[in-house]
Amino acid sequence: MSDVFCNVLFPTFIVYTDKPETVKQETVNFAKIIISEYANKPFHSNCLSTVKTLGNILEYDQFAEIRNDIIHCLGAYCERTKIVKNNLRFSGSWLNLYNEHGYQDLHAHSGSMLSGVYYLKSDGEKDLIFQSPYHFYQPVEPDYEEMNLENCSNVEYNSNVGRCIIFPSHLMHRTLPAKSERISLSFNITHDYR
Ligand SMILES: [Fe+2]
Repeated sequence: MSDVFCNVLFPTFIVYTDKPETVKQETVNFAKIIISEYANKPFHSNCLSTVKTLGNILEYDQFAEIRNDIIHCLGAYCERTKIVKNNLRFSGSWLNLYNEHGYQDLHAHSGSMLSGVYYLKSDGEKDLIFQSPYHFYQPVEPDYEEMNLENCSNVEYNSNVGRCIIFPSHLMHRTLPAKSERISLSFNITHDYR
């Protein structure tokens, strides 16, 4: 219908990239050493994390290549959304380890603008689930002829090794129970005011 106009307002941008060749066994081994030394269980979730105990993981030389992958992915995010990128910085980065059945409850990241995850070890199963920001505000759910990325309330992403996913920090997300040991690196990004 050419006399009817449609705008998509307030879209939620998520970008991801897959760089499995970046993740070396020695990087995973180093992550395990860090986790065994620093991690605890800071959430009401079945997960070991350094989020409260060691929050500058990306400053370690051992994660330099992963940091480069994340910056590459961030560049694509900024290009698509027109966010100014030259004053962005990492405000936190930490490791997470899920044993079989481990998971994280629904949450968002406070005190940052963008957030993300990078998978170091995983079986590639579905893991990260994003929930629509409007999920709790829609009084009556429509019946849809088909479900797609524009009308669904939840979207799942697989946990491929070397996958980096970046999303707005306000976006609620959770992880599915792991089917085998999974290690991920999470991060927050914010900007310095000019
Ligand atoms: Fe998170």
